[in-house]
Amino acid sequence: MDLQAMRREYLQGGLRRRDMASNPHEQFAEWMRQAIEMDIIDPTAMVLATATPDGDISQRIVLLKGFDAEGFVFYSNYDSRKGRAMTANPRVSLHFPWHALERQVIVAGQVDRIPEARSAEYFHSRPRESQLAAIASEQSQPVPDRDALEQAFRRLEKEYAGREIPAPDDWGGYIVRPERMEFWQGGRHRLHDRFEYQLQAGGNWALQRLSP
Ligand SMILES: Cc1cc2nc3c(=O)[nH]c(=O)nc-3n(C[C@H](O)[C@H](O)[C@H](O)COP(=O)(O)O)c2cc1C
Repeated sequence: MDLQAMRREYLQGGLRRRDMASNPHEQFAEWMRQAIEMDIIDPTAMVLATATPDGDISQRIVLLKGFDAEGFVFYSNYDSRKGRAMTANPRVSLHFPWHALERQVIVAGQVDRIPEARSAEYFHSRPRESQLAAIASEQSQPVPDRDALEQAFRRLEKEYAGREIPAPDDWGGYIVRPERMEFWQGGRHRLHDRFEYQLQAGGNWALQRLSP
């Protein structure tokens, strides 16, 4: 396996300042639209990186469930490893690795929980099995074996048979409010294009090109 010899040119296109939207939300919307149109696998999958106050960094994939000028929304367990890290330190980073488009988007900002009512609404829009699984799983905690998980699932299935499953207290949505967003497009000879938006004190976005 000769990994050193593996390389390819990035030839799909370049990024010019004149092509960049005046704010990162519009730019992101355009790139997300293109990622969905290209039919790439899981275009909404993003890596969420968290850090505890003493610098213990961890990452995992979560699915983006909505975005607008305010921020990026995803759902998870509030008591999970990531949930605890975000309670202790709300500074997080998101990464969209869109290899098929030779693109990546990197977001840095502050995370917050979304209102309970909105989480409950989304919870109830999910398939019943997903609702039960969210309750059955004490995410990130050790579990003796697969059987224990399945038993918990079946117990809940019986308990809530024929009635609405209440949205759990320890599960819900987060919103990442961006302060910095980078748009990266692979370029010929490794001269990639990078543009970074930075939130200014007055709420406007400044745009600068970064060296590849
Ligand atoms: C494609 C994909 C999508 C995922 N989406 C979510 C999600 O939206 N929310 C979530 O909590 N975990 C999701 N996961 C599982 C997480 O990556 C992770 O294993 C889990 O949240 C526990 O992370 P933690 O122990 O760091 O808190 C997803 C995993 C994959 C591979």
